[in-house]
Amino acid sequence: MAYSALMRVMVEAARKAGRSLARDFGEVQNLQVSMKGPGDYVSQADRKAEEIIYTELARARPGYSFLMEERGVVEGEDAQHRWIVDPLDGTTNFLHGIPMFAISIALERQGQLTAGLVYNPAMDELYTAERGGGAFMNDRRLRVAGRSKLSDCVIGNGIPHLGRGHHGNALIELRNVMGEVSGIRRMGSAALDLAYVAAGRMDGFWENGLSPWDMAAGILIIREAGGFVSDRDGGAAMLDTGGIVAGNEAIHRALLKQLKKPATAAR
Ligand code: IPD
Ligand code: CA
Ligand code: CA
Repeated sequence: MAYSALMRVMVEAARKAGRSLARDFGEVQNLQVSMKGPGDYVSQADRKAEEIIYTELARARPGYSFLMEERGVVEGEDAQHRWIVDPLDGTTNFLHGIPMFAISIALERQGQLTAGLVYNPAMDELYTAERGGGAFMNDRRLRVAGRSKLSDCVIGNGIPHLGRGHHGNALIELRNVMGEVSGIRRMGSAALDLAYVAAGRMDGFWENGLSPWDMAAGILIIREAGGFVSDRDGGAAMLDTGGIVAGNEAIHRALLKQLKKPATAAR
């Protein structure tokens, strides 16, 4: 695959951090049976991956700003460019030895998403997109699924868990959607969920309470695969509100409608 100079920088950073995560994932699988469990080990793996990505990107593009999950905001001299990075999305999966986790790297130029990458090192699946250039998985061009009826669709979402709020609201939404679709998935990595929508593996996705680093790359990848992405009100404030709804045009619209239904409307 012939990547642009910018995408080559992102791919190199992701592959290097991916090798580190893959090694640590092997160890985590061994630690499952230990009394202490792999918790501390996973935090270290997460920080190590972030360090690699930070070092690689800062070296290749000096002065760019950063928003990273662990390190937070790093103001560079160049405020026009901002990397948005999650070094390990799907931490709970990683901790439990489930190979559904990813690195997510996006670049914003003057507040606009310009490039996005999601990489699952366990499956060696690399999703990339640049604004106006289409979306790819490894070297295959991506297109969102063409299904137009919710009843044929597999829809992904993110169910809140211990320590997260709005459980009641999530149950209402789930009830409103699950009665209309052929399957619901909760895969545990929002970045991969979005990449899977772009790849046509899932027909749609919604979640609330996400952070910019969970979504930024995936949003661009879906758009470049011909999909629709919005916040809960159909607007473009996903990174500010933390809410996201995605799919092809018809499924995106149908999901927005289901999610607006009151609790009593559920069958
Ligand atoms: C989480 C995953 C998960 C989503 C959570 C995120 P993390 O990110 O994307 O699917 O439901 O809201 O926080 O913590 O594994 O980087
Ligand atoms: Ca995340
Ligand atoms: Ca993370």
